[in-house]
Amino acid sequence: MCGIVGYVGSKDSIPVLLRGLKRLEYRGYDSAGVAVLHENNLHFIKKAGKVSSLQSFIDDTTIKGNLGIAHTRWATHGEPNDINAHPHIDHTEKIALVHNGIIENYDSIKQALIKRGVPFTSNTDSEVLVQLISELYYNNNEKISFEDAVRAALQEVIGAYGIVVICKDEPNKLIAARMGSPLVLGIGEGEFLIASDASPIIEYTRNVIYLDDNELVTIDDGHYSISKIDSKNIVNKTLTKIDLTIEEIEKGEFPHFMLKEIHDQQHSISDTMRGRFNLEDGTTQLGGISDYFSNILSASRIYITACGTSWHAGLIGKHLIEEYARVPVHVEYASEFRYRNVIIDSDTILIAISQSGETADTLAAIRKTKKLGAITLGICNVVGSTISRETHAGIFTHTGPEIGVASTKAFTAQLTILIMLALKLGRKKNVSKNRGKKLIRALRDIDQDVVSILKNSDEVKKVAKNTWKANNFLYLGRGVNFPIALEGALKLKEISYIHAEGYPAAEMKHGPIALIDENMPVVFIAPQDDSFSKVLANIEEVKARNGIIITITDKKNNLLESLSDYILTIPNTHKHVFPITCSIILQMLAYELAICRGCEIDQPRNLAKSVTVE
Ligand code: M6R
Repeated sequence: MCGIVGYVGSKDSIPVLLRGLKRLEYRGYDSAGVAVLHENNLHFIKKAGKVSSLQSFIDDTTIKGNLGIAHTRWATHGEPNDINAHPHIDHTEKIALVHNGIIENYDSIKQALIKRGVPFTSNTDSEVLVQLISELYYNNNEKISFEDAVRAALQEVIGAYGIVVICKDEPNKLIAARMGSPLVLGIGEGEFLIASDASPIIEYTRNVIYLDDNELVTIDDGHYSISKIDSKNIVNKTLTKIDLTIEEIEKGEFPHFMLKEIHDQQHSISDTMRGRFNLEDGTTQLGGISDYFSNILSASRIYITACGTSWHAGLIGKHLIEEYARVPVHVEYASEFRYRNVIIDSDTILIAISQSGETADTLAAIRKTKKLGAITLGICNVVGSTISRETHAGIFTHTGPEIGVASTKAFTAQLTILIMLALKLGRKKNVSKNRGKKLIRALRDIDQDVVSILKNSDEVKKVAKNTWKANNFLYLGRGVNFPIALEGALKLKEISYIHAEGYPAAEMKHGPIALIDENMPVVFIAPQDDSFSKVLANIEEVKARNGIIITITDKKNNLLESLSDYILTIPNTHKHVFPITCSIILQMLAYELAICRGCEIDQPRNLAKSVTVE
């Protein structure tokens, strides 16, 4: 939610900031802006629309400077327009600020400042911060430093923020602070960058420091210092080396990140599994959780919490852990969990699943659980992310950066980790070595399964070409494939804006069947497993009502062919690996439908990749 970047060093900051904004655009893209200090002047440009549109305005100017800040916005307060775009500038036009987060008490501060004669220009919560800093700095009985004015302002606000702020009267200084919204400091040769994540930084340096909540960094004349916002105590932080490559964060020959990431699954699932199998013993090795493994094994209950696609992975995790490890698992939306009177004791384990590792609700659920004394584990993709640092232990998905807003390869990697975890727990309980080996062998073959699924793209395109005008889709699956139906529907909604619902196939009769007519495509997830005959009966029911039947199966038969309008066949595999491979063909279907509808695949309307506000 909003991307922020700041630069100070010997280079002109404008190109650095614009490249940084492009890398961060997945976080929000309704407006963008930059502010720089140059020859004792503060210059700024901010515009509604994408970074490319900001760039064309900047190209018509001579704006430059060695110190600057920039922002790409996902609107919370105030519509996306030029005025509400960041940076926000104080009424003296000397201070500029970019903000990611929400200031909850903005209205009371705003009213108090208005009473003091401070004029406001925008409808945002963020402007309050810059006006408050300005008031504390310029209109104060005692003279305080700019840094102290920032500190004092931050102590008045309630809410979440990652900010970067600069001031014309202290022109060598760049100040950033974090409370709830991520910030990474990059330390290069004679230059510093600060950003919402490491992607704008890696072109310049691999040395980074992840800021924690209640930390403020001041970069001044080639030096930086990090201190607590409230106490001013200096914090000594360790430098982390990031091993992200530029290729990983670019889309290469693919037209969209989403398509690249769908194709990445030819190796990303194996990358997630690498070094984690023990075929001989039919089990897995998950070093990240070894210190807590005995606690997980003896847990009386496990909660899985997450949002969106990661929550769907959690539903499958429940199925697998209960099946293999025989421990009760409760799956909760993090946004509900954090406010519910959940039953947590020292025998409870919380597993939080998050691609970004920054989702605000998931983080809040972890913090709550820690307070209640239980162990928290993370399944995250982003190394260095807040969730990966705040959980007691965890397992990384190692799937590489996921930039398309619609999650694809992170989801299949999460499922892979959950299978490995369930199997590891199961093998310590009653699951036989042979059963373990069968599952591992199926996982080991997954690369070739994915290659063969990707070869279906012409078939998928054909389905899309014939169905893209539909206003609604229904996705139906049973058992471990019910969450795949939910995920297929979510993918479609997100990028094509077609309304879609996922249901357990047998639930159709209890309501959704009323929607079926000749205009309703129904996607059936129908592997030839023990639920096949039941799903077949549901297909018959839709056929009887003239619905358009799209069947995903691992084996065609005559009856299926006669009932289905379209059949997409994917390789036969282990029933617990099938959800992974099936989700890939559903990602392809959503992608092709969105292409037919001319949608913005990587930047769907109203969405942002990482939801760092509540
Ligand atoms: O980074 P997270 O996994 O915590 O994100 C959770 C959801 O916001 C995310 O999965 C969202 O639903 C995706 N856009 C789905 O494609």
